[in-house]
Amino acid sequence: MTVLPPHLEVLLKDISTPAYVVDMAVLKKNMATAAHIRKESGCRILLATKAFALPVVFSLMREFLDGTTASGVHEARLGRETFGKEVHVYAPAYTRNSIHELLTISDHIYFNSADQLRRFLPEVKAYGRDKLVGIRINPGYSNATLGGHLYDPCSPRSRFGVLRRDLDDLPWDGIDILHAHALCESLHHGSVGLIEHMAREFAPYLRRVGAVNFGGGHFFSKAGYDIEALIRAIRDFRAAFNVEVILEPGSGCVVDAGYLVATVVDVIHNETDIAILDASASCHMPDVLEVPYTPPLYGAAAPGENPFTFILAGNTCMAGDIIGEYSFPKPLKPGDSLVFGDMLQYSFVKNNTFNGTPLPDIALLHEDGRYEVVRRFGYDDFKARLC
Ligand SMILES: Cc1ncc(COP(=O)(O)O)c(C=O)c1O
Repeated sequence: MTVLPPHLEVLLKDISTPAYVVDMAVLKKNMATAAHIRKESGCRILLATKAFALPVVFSLMREFLDGTTASGVHEARLGRETFGKEVHVYAPAYTRNSIHELLTISDHIYFNSADQLRRFLPEVKAYGRDKLVGIRINPGYSNATLGGHLYDPCSPRSRFGVLRRDLDDLPWDGIDILHAHALCESLHHGSVGLIEHMAREFAPYLRRVGAVNFGGGHFFSKAGYDIEALIRAIRDFRAAFNVEVILEPGSGCVVDAGYLVATVVDVIHNETDIAILDASASCHMPDVLEVPYTPPLYGAAAPGENPFTFILAGNTCMAGDIIGEYSFPKPLKPGDSLVFGDMLQYSFVKNNTFNGTPLPDIALLHEDGRYEVVRRFGYDDFKARLC
């Protein structure tokens, strides 16, 4: 059972729930790790805003990172307006309109297919010499630790990246960056494995570009990740191919740096004890259902380990809106507060208001213990997306 650390006790008292809470001390620690990797390996690190986009903490993050990478026009614009520094963008496919907009916003544009590259390369190059062009390849390297094929960009029949057999046909003169995103929540074995795999299998192509982007999925702030192994692998790779190296993690930047705090609204019994919360898997923790995974919960353990086992469920109509089954030393009752751990990546960037469910507050837990709500949502946010 993971015991609630003393500095989180404030989350059990008098805060409005549900709430996503960023632990600023942990975020700073993660950012210091990123800065160490950049300094010692000479790579550049971008924040993938698809995983975590919270402008209020970008002022802190931009001190430690080189910029952001976006999944399309809106994220690129957010990165440009609120983070600054470099803006990269990759999408599986662009329309002509999106390319035109991206040319005015982003520094570097990555293409997913030979067709898209050929179609838009002349416009990108004509726009300005400082716009760099990347091509995503499918490196044929699988190491994603989550969700099987769902989170493996190199799974069979994947739509991501140019296949090895088609690489010779690319217009290499126009390509500046090779992009190989293949990981998901991978420890150093995955990061180092991908880097070494690329060196072994793609050397002739690596010599044709100025930079290699090893994508996201590097879980560098997770306990057990050997940072020094990553640093060595990047250094060796840079020396062997005389290229710049870019990483674009999302989860690795914010892992274990935040919580979702919820309150028990009702307790019912149907074969087992069930607690209905003001937080919902469907609306507020979508990866719980998609991956699927069961988030850590402070003060609780796996079913049966403590005397009182409960299913924790959301307050929506969906029968499958279940966060998970946990056991507790004491029975849950309405009004009890629950603190789920590791709830920053792919949480509030993906949430929704199904059933008109209110969105959680977004709050910061400052290093001095101060709890600050930076955004509260209401009926107007629900309505604005409908009409
Ligand atoms: C192209 C690309 N880059 C970066 C990322 C960020 O990955 P993560 O949040 O796992 O680090 C993703 C995630 O899907 C991605 O598709």
